[in-house]
Amino acid sequence: MKKIIEKHSLAMRWFHWINFPVLFIMIWTGMLIYWANDIYKVTIGKHELFHFFPDGFYSYFNISHRLSEGMALHFLFMWFFTVNGFLYVLYTLISGEWRDLVPQRNSFKEAWLVLLHDLHIRKTAPLQGKYNAAQRIAYTSIIVMGFGSLFTGLAIYKPVQFNWICYLCGGYHFARILHFTLTIGYCLFFLIHIVQVILAGWRNFRSVITGFDVEEVPVITPHIATEDGRAR
Ligand code: HEM
Repeated sequence: MKKIIEKHSLAMRWFHWINFPVLFIMIWTGMLIYWANDIYKVTIGKHELFHFFPDGFYSYFNISHRLSEGMALHFLFMWFFTVNGFLYVLYTLISGEWRDLVPQRNSFKEAWLVLLHDLHIRKTAPLQGKYNAAQRIAYTSIIVMGFGSLFTGLAIYKPVQFNWICYLCGGYHFARILHFTLTIGYCLFFLIHIVQVILAGWRNFRSVITGFDVEEVPVITPHIATEDGRAR
């Protein structure tokens, strides 16, 4: 028998779907800012392997010469990003949903089994609650990363007023490196997240929009006792 169950609360869905475009805007406007001083590269000795970013990237996405636009939007949307993130964390704490989210003692070991299962190397997936071990690690990391973006963002936004934050981030330049690295991290997270969503299937995706999921529940047939006490 099929039964409709509530899987994701209304609050959680609002936080998630507000965060999605806001995070996108933060990455996009961050790119508009970064273009003006694109110093990061991956090198081995003196050999440059990759420059963030090649000219073709800027021209393809029409990023060049939009620094002021990027800064204006970045500093506007950082408020939405911060308030939404703050309320989300507060909500998970008050509602107790944090228990479904944070990694448990054996989550790191189990995450490998989940990965092997996703790669079709292992047949069975480990038993899970609302989220599996890999999801717990990924979702908690993304919250920590969000906090990291706020922290490092404040350090490079007001390095004088927030000099203690800047100091804790290892100075202005290191704070900027961290801020940029976190952005690359979001892009990688997004790619993995999309693959996971596709693997989890349409039903799972639908539940993050509607909040409900359809579950198969076993039908329990009542046994009627006969006069001699045996079930019929
Ligand atoms: C997920 C959220 C965020 C993302 C993805 C993001 C991304 C970026 C990126 C890629 C850059 C360019 C980095 C560079 O030029 O080295 C940047 C610059 C910057 N971001 Fe963010 N950021 C986020 C949140 C924040 C927050 C919350 C603040 C808070 C104040 C902030 C403040 C800044 C500042 C001050 C700059 C540098 C502006 C400048 O060089 O004048 N960011 N951000």
